[in-house]
Amino acid sequence: MASPAGLACVRCGAAYPISRYAVDCERCRGEAPANLTVTYAPDAFAGITRGAVASGPLTLWRYAAFLPVDARDAVSLGEGLTPLVPAPRLGAAFGARLYVKDESRNPTWSFKDRLATVVVSAARTLGARVIASSSSGNAGAAVAAYAARAGLPCVVFTFQAAAGPMVTQMRAYGALVVAVRDKADRWKLLEAGVQRFGWFPTSPFVAPVVGSNPLGIEGYKTLAYEIAEQLDWQAPDWCVLPVCYGDALYGVWKGFEDLRRLGWIARSPRLVAAEIYGSLAATLAAGGDRLLDVPKTHDSIAASIGATQSTYQALHALRASRGVAVAIRDDELMTWQARMAAEEGLYAEPSSVAPVAAVQRLRADGAIGRDDSVVAVITAGGLKDPAPTARHQGDVPVVPADLDAALDTLRSVYGVTLGDDA
Ligand SMILES: Cc1ncc(COP(=O)(O)O)c(C=O)c1O
Ligand SMILES: [Zn+2]
Repeated sequence: MASPAGLACVRCGAAYPISRYAVDCERCRGEAPANLTVTYAPDAFAGITRGAVASGPLTLWRYAAFLPVDARDAVSLGEGLTPLVPAPRLGAAFGARLYVKDESRNPTWSFKDRLATVVVSAARTLGARVIASSSSGNAGAAVAAYAARAGLPCVVFTFQAAAGPMVTQMRAYGALVVAVRDKADRWKLLEAGVQRFGWFPTSPFVAPVVGSNPLGIEGYKTLAYEIAEQLDWQAPDWCVLPVCYGDALYGVWKGFEDLRRLGWIARSPRLVAAEIYGSLAATLAAGGDRLLDVPKTHDSIAASIGATQSTYQALHALRASRGVAVAIRDDELMTWQARMAAEEGLYAEPSSVAPVAAVQRLRADGAIGRDDSVVAVITAGGLKDPAPTARHQGDVPVVPADLDAALDTLRSVYGVTLGDDA
């Protein structure tokens, strides 16, 4: 464990005690709302060695020395250390060295387990009695599982149109799930529960959203540590994530910066935010620190990242890493979801395909150079929200119990010839 010094605003640096994990920065509130982040003494990580990391457990808790919770207090389901899979076919199509960090291999099948394991562990050590989340999907499912593991009740405020499988998953873990009609009401309810009963919030807790509980965001630093370790202590040139409120983007930036300061990597990668409506791209272009709320031009299939206004923490990670933001269309998501599954064997949730589409665009316009190393973080698996894929595929053709008839159908429906004439 690294003992936290406290919290500080990601924008103005104002210091707060650790107990303020459920409030945004008071100083920045009127001008440009900003989240807080956990701070440590300057030499807090100085004694950590790569050898000690390598001999640690085969979970993200091998990096406990960088985290604000003691490994002995971890509420763990074996999360993290997900594979970094080379994607040579898509990489060759783009002219880049592409790797996929496959976060669907986590215990609840998404990257949110990194946040959930750290935030629920912290909640338990701080004496929390109720875990609470406002979530449309993966975050709620993850904290529900870790709350169950910790033996704590978990309340999740979701909204009516949330993707079915993830709501089913939350309830399977025993979470107390209620839906509101208007998405924005989730935060009001959560904020009220936190203020009245001291519920422990794991997700966004104020509107406008500044990000999730800073203790949980620390868990995302392990994505950067793992990527560097899996590349033999080198950083990729680029690291691309699907971004909504930028919890993971900020955590990844912080993690790479930790390693750079320790001298374990020579430089941090440039970060890319793959988004839907373009709040970060518009704000980067316009300048200023207040995130633009952009029009909701369509109902995207990438429901997990469908916010029209991102956060200052995401903007900060992009500016500090000389990063870029790319808004991705639904037709690109469908194309790259199908291609990544069929060409690389990796089936990702629609939102999780956004990084691959962003790599294609940035390679095409020359921002990503030929043979640059690129890590695309696939944050969740396709079975989290299979409906868009199923709609696109249509019905499976039905054939009689006759192989010749089946071969005819294969030929007419799929356009392939199999059998002895193949
Ligand atoms: C699959 C998936 N990818 C990406 C995101 C975006 O996360 P963040 O808010 O950390 O940007 C989410 C958020 O809910 C998600 O469910
Ligand atoms: Zn501030």
